[in-house]
Amino acid sequence: MAHLRGDDKRRYVAEMFARISPRYDLMNSLMTGGLHHHWKRATARRTAAGLNGPALDVATGTGDLAFALARCPGITAVVGVDLLPEMLRIAARKSAAPAAFVLGDALRLPFADAAFACATAGFSLRNMPDVPAAIKEMARVVAPGGRVTTLELTPMAPGVPAAVGRLYFHHLVPLLGHLVAGDRAAYTYLPDSVDYFLTADGLADVYRRAGLVNVGYRRLGLGGVALHYGEKPARRSPEPV
Ligand SMILES: C[S@@+](CC[C@H](N)C(=O)[O-])C[C@H]1O[C@@H](n2cnc3c(N)ncnc32)[C@H](O)[C@@H]1O
Repeated sequence: MAHLRGDDKRRYVAEMFARISPRYDLMNSLMTGGLHHHWKRATARRTAAGLNGPALDVATGTGDLAFALARCPGITAVVGVDLLPEMLRIAARKSAAPAAFVLGDALRLPFADAAFACATAGFSLRNMPDVPAAIKEMARVVAPGGRVTTLELTPMAPGVPAAVGRLYFHHLVPLLGHLVAGDRAAYTYLPDSVDYFLTADGLADVYRRAGLVNVGYRRLGLGGVALHYGEKPARRSPEPV
């Protein structure tokens, strides 16, 4: 199902996350040994570094990255946006830190241009029907001089860690999904969606094509996770005449 495009993909993804929402957090912690919290904190710090103002977490799901952002210095307010009320209800129940949650589509964010100092999205780009459009939308709602980041699973370079990772993701994770979430299909889609996803360099190019500058990425989790970042160019002051 990872090959789906457009509205078919949006529908498949929405139904899948609605089904697994009650076990989503538990599965994340089991699959990563709790490391996803560490990666989200690192992403929040990178997103907010040196900025002042409100922050946006796109496809926030159960809100962990939004809560991590809310704890960063300089962040005055946090909004988490997601397609699914099932995920947002769980986020709203946590109240781990002040954050507001709203329904919305990452490809048509319900916010004005330049409304946020920074925007991030965790483990969600793979599920978007149009990745370049999602990055462009994040860049649109960030103020000049602000930052866009994403945290995402990424194809690994061939080698021993990649071979071990494939075994783990393609065999153990679907079994875990079956036993814990009662949903083998959702946790078969997960490794398949990584196989269909852009390389880390390819995603960095998408950032550049969206007009972002100082683009780079850092690999985490033995190289299977990538934290990408880029900045929206600051407005130039008019030349003196
Ligand atoms: C794997 S979860 C990630 C949740 C959270 N960001 C995290 O890191 O744990 C993917 C989330 O993306 C959301 N999503 C998928 N497509 C979306 C879209 N087009 N617009 C907004 N949210 C979307 C899903 O509803 C789901 O909550």
